[in-house]
Amino acid sequence: MSAPIELLPDPLPAEPLVMVNRWLADSWQRRQQPNPNAMVIATVGPDGQPSARVVLCKEIVPQPGYLVFYTNYLSRKGRQLTRNPRAAAVMHWDALRRQVRVEGPVVKAPEADSDAYFASRPWQSRVGAWASAQSEPIATRRDLEEAVAKAAQRFGAPPPEANTQAEAEIVVPRPPHWGGFHLWAESVELWVEGDARIHDRARWTRSLVARADGFLDAGPWTSTRLQP
Ligand SMILES: Cc1cc2nc3c(=O)[nH]c(=O)nc-3n(C[C@H](O)[C@H](O)[C@H](O)COP(=O)(O)O)c2cc1C
Repeated sequence: MSAPIELLPDPLPAEPLVMVNRWLADSWQRRQQPNPNAMVIATVGPDGQPSARVVLCKEIVPQPGYLVFYTNYLSRKGRQLTRNPRAAAVMHWDALRRQVRVEGPVVKAPEADSDAYFASRPWQSRVGAWASAQSEPIATRRDLEEAVAKAAQRFGAPPPEANTQAEAEIVVPRPPHWGGFHLWAESVELWVEGDARIHDRARWTRSLVARADGFLDAGPWTSTRLQP
């Protein structure tokens, strides 16, 4: 069942990502889609060709304002982000009739954060991160399964299909090519479906200045409503 339409507040809130966090929480609460934190991330290749794929947004940090996702740094998206560290993200909560767009620079997450998140994943996923050279070709599905079994063996883990109780004893460190990215919000756009296709839209923008320590200094948000 669709939610009643709730347009954007007037005046617009000062911090857009606080609102995005609330929308994400609404979506989790309603359980109308299996992955409310799924977002499409678009990156751009060296030839200017954009490419997009779904990743899971693992955290929204309204202050200082970035989204966190995890991936393989040597994947297609990882290589593109290393070369051109800017991205655009879209989250769409269909049943809630809401869309979020975030654009801005991307930086690698601190290693300690990637370690902590990797350690929280099931051992099968940790083995998989070693076994799969994400985005590289592989001849057959069987070759992939063999690579997974080999990686499991390397870390003293049972075959991935095994139903083991001994998970706590399986130590699989984070591969150096796997970790988080922070997409810093330089612009955020919120969209709500309105009656008779008169949707409600607003965009927030701010300046971000890179610091020597890799962190970014953020200016204040300014906001404006947009025509749908
Ligand atoms: C629901 C869903 C969630 C996904 N989550 C992730 C993720 O968090 N990280 C990731 O690297 N890939 C994730 N994927 C797979 C990506 O969409 C993509 O296939 C993969 O990252 C390779 O993309 P690339 O070749 O452009 O680098 C997810 C796919 C789906 C459908």
